[in-house]
Amino acid sequence: MASAPIVLILGSGANIGAAVASRFDKLGYQVALVSRQGSDGDAPTRTPEGYLKIRADLADAEAYAGIYSSVREALGGVPSVVVFNAASLTPAAEPGNMFSVPLDGFQRDFDLSVKGAFVAAREAYRLWSSESEANDGGVKKQFIMTGNKLARSILPNPNFTTLGLAKSASAYWIGLADKLYREKGFRFFVADQRVAGGSPAGNNADAEAHAELFTRLARDPEPWPFYITFVDGTKYEKFENGSWDE
Ligand SMILES: NC(=O)c1ccc[n+]([C@@H]2O[C@H](COP(=O)([O-])OP(=O)(O)OC[C@H]3O[C@@H](n4cnc5c(N)ncnc54)[C@H](OP(=O)(O)O)[C@@H]3O)[C@@H](O)[C@H]2O)c1
Repeated sequence: MASAPIVLILGSGANIGAAVASRFDKLGYQVALVSRQGSDGDAPTRTPEGYLKIRADLADAEAYAGIYSSVREALGGVPSVVVFNAASLTPAAEPGNMFSVPLDGFQRDFDLSVKGAFVAAREAYRLWSSESEANDGGVKKQFIMTGNKLARSILPNPNFTTLGLAKSASAYWIGLADKLYREKGFRFFVADQRVAGGSPAGNNADAEAHAELFTRLARDPEPWPFYITFVDGTKYEKFENGSWDE
């Protein structure tokens, strides 16, 4: 068992990843970050803040077992909070033609944000299930994917084809996992930030609001729906009509 709880941030850069890392650090968590750049060679390193830094391409499904074992080796346990924050999109090659998205980019975006995220959650579920059996059943676990409005609304922009596909496909399996496993104390969330009124946060994504929400989810996951639309991170704000349960 880890001496302090662990947060694993899959896809961590200067914006949302950094804010989430800092907030969890302040709460007493050990922090592990993953991105393709930023550590020398393949061995995990430490950032100046003392966070574990693992270099991996999250579009590679084979990378995840190694990531979780590096965390266990360096930090002494299994993350109780896993954040999947990486995303990619491949714009249309011809303006206005969504079917001109190159298929290698289509595949890569899917491999990162649907298959990669699924394998990240699968590994967490496997480890959480065995941890529970090893008397760690009282500690609540959360898997959080950074989402956006494309899972709830079709924006008429061919450049968002693969990003929308990934966010909406993953919202389905994350909702399913949440329904199936919440009674075990495992929650699966999508965090979809909006600006006031419900438009996508887009270029105005607020890293601190994400950090606020994610730490609230870790402290008390129970009251939240699996698909969380939010503005400042302090509360669920319902923007769309209808529910996933209809
Ligand atoms: N609600 C909204 O409207 C909204 C708006 C903007 C963003 N978002 C979501 O927020 C998330 C990103 O936010 P951000 O840019 O602020 O986060 P960030 O923490 O600043 O950066 C994310 C990091 O993910 C890493 N990454 C990307 N692809 C990867 C891969 N294949 N393997 C490993 N690491 C990878 C990148 O680092 P490397 O390049 O070093 O790998 C990047 O620095 C995305 O999920 C995005 O869809 C939502």
